[in-house]
Amino acid sequence: MIRLHTVSPISDIAAAPSQSSYPPPADFAAQANSGPELYQAAEADRLGFWAQQANELSWAKPFTEVLDYSQAPFARWFADGRLNVAYNCVDRHVEAGNGDRVAIHWEGEPVGDCRSITYAELLADVSRAANALTALGLTAGDRVAIYLPMIPEAVIAMLACARLGVLHTVVFAGFSAHALRSRIDDAQAKVVITSDGQYRRGAAAALKPAVDEALSTGGTQESVQHVLVVRRTGSDVAWTPDRDLWWHDVVGAAEPEHACEAFEAEQPLFLLYTSGTTGKPKGIVHTSGGYLTQAAYTHRCVFDLKPATDVFWCTADIGWVTGHTYAVYGPLANGTTEVIYEGTPEYPDQHRHFQIIEKYGVTIYYTAPTLIRTFMKWGREVPDAQDLSSLRLLGSVGEPINPEAWRWYRRVIGADAVPVVDTWWQTETGAAMICPLPGVAAAKPGSAMAPLPGISARIVDDHGDLIAPNDPCAEPVTGYLVIDEPWPAMARGIWGDDQRFIDTYWSRFAEQGWYFAGDGARYDADGDIWVLGRIDDVMNVSGHRISTAEVESALVGHDAVAEAAVVGAIDEQTGQRICAFVVLAASHSEVGGTIIDELRQRVTVEISPIAKPRNVHVVPELPKTRSGKIMRRLLRDIADGRELGDTSTLVDPSVFDAIRAAD
Ligand code: WTA
Repeated sequence: MIRLHTVSPISDIAAAPSQSSYPPPADFAAQANSGPELYQAAEADRLGFWAQQANELSWAKPFTEVLDYSQAPFARWFADGRLNVAYNCVDRHVEAGNGDRVAIHWEGEPVGDCRSITYAELLADVSRAANALTALGLTAGDRVAIYLPMIPEAVIAMLACARLGVLHTVVFAGFSAHALRSRIDDAQAKVVITSDGQYRRGAAAALKPAVDEALSTGGTQESVQHVLVVRRTGSDVAWTPDRDLWWHDVVGAAEPEHACEAFEAEQPLFLLYTSGTTGKPKGIVHTSGGYLTQAAYTHRCVFDLKPATDVFWCTADIGWVTGHTYAVYGPLANGTTEVIYEGTPEYPDQHRHFQIIEKYGVTIYYTAPTLIRTFMKWGREVPDAQDLSSLRLLGSVGEPINPEAWRWYRRVIGADAVPVVDTWWQTETGAAMICPLPGVAAAKPGSAMAPLPGISARIVDDHGDLIAPNDPCAEPVTGYLVIDEPWPAMARGIWGDDQRFIDTYWSRFAEQGWYFAGDGARYDADGDIWVLGRIDDVMNVSGHRISTAEVESALVGHDAVAEAAVVGAIDEQTGQRICAFVVLAASHSEVGGTIIDELRQRVTVEISPIAKPRNVHVVPELPKTRSGKIMRRLLRDIADGRELGDTSTLVDPSVFDAIRAAD
């Protein structure tokens, strides 16, 4: 049995209040895209099933081989086929006569600042951008960093890259200049696409200065040739002649037609950096045919997408994988009408999301448990003030959802009537993996239920033996969640570091050849899966993955800090909160009043405000094993206010008295 240390508040699992499972309403099941036969089809012929899903896309050259896993764990799916991802997301819908359908209802943060873009308009915009990027000298295989808020140009830029076989690496616009620089450097991006600023909480916040700062030092100067700047806020920006170009000048003047080339299915599509267990973020590599197949398939079956009538809204930022797969590639591949919103949920007040649902008649709403818990805190009178009757399906992603929040979501936002799908997946898996089919499953609040048709996963113990379904009368047994068969949207590697890919994901169960996801999970008595959270040193704060090592390295970069240990403590609202324990250098042993603020600020600057520790404890020393390893498990016990676990391997158990005394 393994020990879990990052469990979201799931206090009411045991209590099993009123209803423990929610079968789909009969009328929903009757019209659902996917029924139980999907599981049977995938079971009977897994690769044939994926070939069928891939053939929902448009291939310039059909594939003959489904999977080549001879170089495991580096998979090749549909490898002899050729396609263009942007053609699949845009052109083919126009060619099918749906050019007048809205692709994106874009809602800016300032009220009234909005734009609806049809598929025909999107095609012209993407074509212009592709022509402009070509004129800047970009060719297939080059990398472009996109550092933009949630504006249409972000989606257009991603699709223009995809159209050219250029890899995009989207960097969340909340990341600092320092974090941006390390990603640009690692990817050796030739172009950065950014904006003058963005609207956050009612104010125009600058963005381009972070790009200028990122490019002012280090190796980035060598790779970056141009910075393309979208005018969003109209604020003044510093300008580097020749390097900096306005998007409206360059893209605006380009031709709106662009004949696209088909690339092989394994053409890399994007890099997306994510936190790992070390301080250095990993550039996860995704390719074209397999990724798009699973993105489109899961979007169609998990969200029961009906392109002609649905209005889909995934609230994730494009800076995260959820924004890639379910705000860009999945929905657009399926010809969906979707909503993209630039701002925060509480601007100008707490009604904003619900007003957007009402305004556009959103039918499918997909968000994170953190936001659901925030809505709960605000109270039901906020959503009740709007007409949410258009909603017919709700989704959750990013962290374990506590049953109480699940039930509230369904009852209050979903009028106690609509299916809720809890979708488990990761940056590395590319698309949803474990979640209910809304027309089939009797979903249980808090459970991601079962692997999707075509996906194979299991929960195992240290030796790789299958964990038994939980005996309801016994202590629940938790194991490692592993994926035991390759899947089309799986990561194809870590950019520039194949060995790290193998070591990180494939070494724990190397003998069996399984992917270890980093999460702990358990089966309930029915064999349904409950994902409990990360069991490695990755924290999950409001659904954002942040590594303890990254925050520690920012802290020890401060002169005053000799040592730092960071842990994720349980938080009712955000799932986890970041808790830092620091030992000051002898020269700074007198704790000045500002040191804690300085340290929190340093993490903001080095990484992002989302990584800022909520608590910083200055302690005389850190608990260590004889081999010098910091015992984070015990620090987590302290942060969570629990009784201390086993301290027998500590060099000096009395260190805790000192830590407590310092607190
Ligand atoms: C967690 C986000 C429980 C998990 C798509 C995973 C979840 C990490 C769920 C990946 C869920 C995501 N239930 N936990 N439905 N969805 N997680 O790469 O710990 O940002 O390993 O991908 O989020 O985060 P990432």
